[in-house]
Amino acid sequence: MPLEYCKIIDLPKITDARGNLSFIEGGIHIPFEIARTYYLYDVPAGSERGGHAHKDLHQLMIAISGSFDVVLSDGQNNKRFHLNRPYQGLYICPMIWRVLDNFSSGSVSLVLASNNYDENDYYRNYNQYLIARNIKK
Ligand code: TYD
Repeated sequence: MPLEYCKIIDLPKITDARGNLSFIEGGIHIPFEIARTYYLYDVPAGSERGGHAHKDLHQLMIAISGSFDVVLSDGQNNKRFHLNRPYQGLYICPMIWRVLDNFSSGSVSLVLASNNYDENDYYRNYNQYLIARNIKK
């Protein structure tokens, strides 16, 4: 799937003087059903996360609190997204390399995923990823 499929999705936001509320329904607000959620927190300043691609997994990343950057690549082109709004998510399609950096202090990254955790779904080696994308032999 091409890098252009990855995009910021605006999520529903119910504005209320008592506090705002956003929600996500699988297959409705995002283009996949949700099988798993996980979250990153207590990320030390200067840390990088990610550094891999997934074969079949669809994901949505949200800066629930604070901010961070996500650099996406298809092996040829890169795109940097700055996430800092809890009512927006970055949709990442399969076969996209990603690195997360520039975490603000106290930031929390919520991730919705289309499948359960499976280490066999990862490309953790960039050369092997490029071979799988037919960019390298
Ligand atoms: P990883 O996906 O490499 O983290 P990130 O992309 O945020 O840097 O996962 C880090 C470790 O956590 C790795 O040993 C696998 C494990 N893990 C699970 O057991 N279940 C999960 O749902 C996730 C996302 C990771």
